[in-house]
Amino acid sequence: MSPSIQLPTLTLKGRDLLRVGDWSTGEILVTLDLADELKALHAARTPHRLLEGRTIGMIFRKPSTRTRVSFAAGIGQLGADAVQLSTLGMHVDARGESIQDTALVLSRYLDGLVIRTFAQAEVKEYAEHASIPIVNGLTDDAHPCQAFADLLTIRERLGELHGARIVYVGDGNNVCISLMIACVKVGASFVAATPAGYEPPAKAVERARVLAAASGGSIELCGDAREAATGADVLYTDVWTSMGQEEESAQRLRDFAGWTIDAGLVSLMSSRGIVLHCLPAHDGEEITAEVLYGPRSAAWDQAENRLHAQKALLALIVE
Ligand code: CP
Ligand code: NVA
Repeated sequence: MSPSIQLPTLTLKGRDLLRVGDWSTGEILVTLDLADELKALHAARTPHRLLEGRTIGMIFRKPSTRTRVSFAAGIGQLGADAVQLSTLGMHVDARGESIQDTALVLSRYLDGLVIRTFAQAEVKEYAEHASIPIVNGLTDDAHPCQAFADLLTIRERLGELHGARIVYVGDGNNVCISLMIACVKVGASFVAATPAGYEPPAKAVERARVLAAASGGSIELCGDAREAATGADVLYTDVWTSMGQEEESAQRLRDFAGWTIDAGLVSLMSSRGIVLHCLPAHDGEEITAEVLYGPRSAAWDQAENRLHAQKALLALIVE
């Protein structure tokens, strides 16, 4: 371990990250603080091999560029090895070996496991049986690693999270849900602006209301993008059709018409306002190229921050 790094005393070793809501505000903020520190060390090319000799497995059942590469690179920078596991060539998919047995066996070889898949129940089942930390690298319901990087980026750009007006425009999907919960945990004001029928799930909104009441944050649903964008400190969007929803894409294109983050919407933001997108982006659908590559966009820093946030996360949870 590099002598310059003091890991927080808060005990996170062995913890899973299945949903951002499973982590306390203090645990989230400690992770962001360590991410800032690791980002500075990385920029200075100072070694920070906090996980020397460990091995982290990665299962991707959906495509990925950012999550796959940022985890692989980050694991290497921490002095550990990343192993990409193809479930197609494993008994769990090819011959029906149970998740329970797979989790038990992988726990004997690996020190942590990142999983991107469809059902949240699958990552939950791995976590129930594995003795190593399980990290959700995106499911249909949640994208907690993204939310950590989002908070890191917002704090970096605005200098604070508490009280910031964070407006998500588009589909109330996995990214929206994790961002919403993360924002209310840290006392931000979160607005989900969506067409009717595409709101985040009622259960998640109810949870967010309870968390907001405790943190001093707030949660609001809005059916008007212009109204929501007015005074926003962050305008955030994601694809209209998520992975696994491809059959709905023609209908979604019709339903989301007019919900693009464009220069007009950006002009309504607060003077310090930034634009975020978890990426990949679809030019002319949820965001225009003018905005994505424009001066208000922090989407590329946000993509970079996946690396730093996930390194902090792994350094804290892997034994
Ligand atoms: N934002 C995100 O998770 O990107 P990837 O799908 O490329 O991993
Ligand atoms: N909501 C998108 C996020 C991609 C990173 C999806 O699930 O496909």
